[in-house]
Amino acid sequence: MTTDSIVVRPASREDLAAILTIENESFADPWDASSFVATLELSHMRVRVAEQGEGGERELLGYVVAMLLGDEAEIADLAVSSTARRRGVGGFLLDHAMEETRRAGASVLFLEVRESNVAARALYESRAFSTVGRRRGYYRQPVEDALILKRDLAPT
Ligand SMILES: CC(C)(COP(=O)(O)OP(=O)(O)OC[C@H]1O[C@@H](n2cnc3c(N)ncnc32)[C@H](O)[C@@H]1OP(=O)(O)O)[C@@H](O)C(=O)NCCC(=O)NCCS
Repeated sequence: MTTDSIVVRPASREDLAAILTIENESFADPWDASSFVATLELSHMRVRVAEQGEGGERELLGYVVAMLLGDEAEIADLAVSSTARRRGVGGFLLDHAMEETRRAGASVLFLEVRESNVAARALYESRAFSTVGRRRGYYRQPVEDALILKRDLAPT
């Protein structure tokens, strides 16, 4: 798979089932349907899905949720289908979120990541995020620290 044919677009309620399937296979403490529905309604939240294929063959590969907070932004959720990982989709979604939040006026992007999440930490490192803090016992199932990562966004 190349990322050439991936399309990133705003999520809608019709995407919920596919999003929840990926969310549930990706996280021990996943968001539920009502969280996504509420998020879709909020103007400062940007829910974007990556898909590939044509017409009825389109497949939702992953999604990213970004939150705009004035000149700051935060990645609130990011996941790729377990069958589509390590093919550039996560990086594509993250690059899209960085560009979209930058265009919306953010100069810095934050996120939290489980300390043991090797794949995500490698992805963020590849995009020049740096560790700026730690939230002790932030995650459940299992309880684990979150690392706070930061990425400066180029001026608009
Ligand atoms: C983290 C996640 C989104 C990465 O998505 P992905 O589509 O597999 O990532 P990409 O293919 O774009 O990888 C980009 C880079 O990240 C790093 N990376 C990604 N997965 C990795 C892994 N399992 N091990 C080591 N490095 C990894 C590599 O540097 C990779 O570049 P390379 O393939 O050229 O070496 C995906 O593993 C996932 O959905 N995990 C479960 C949910 C999750 O942890 N989300 C993040 C919460 S903070």
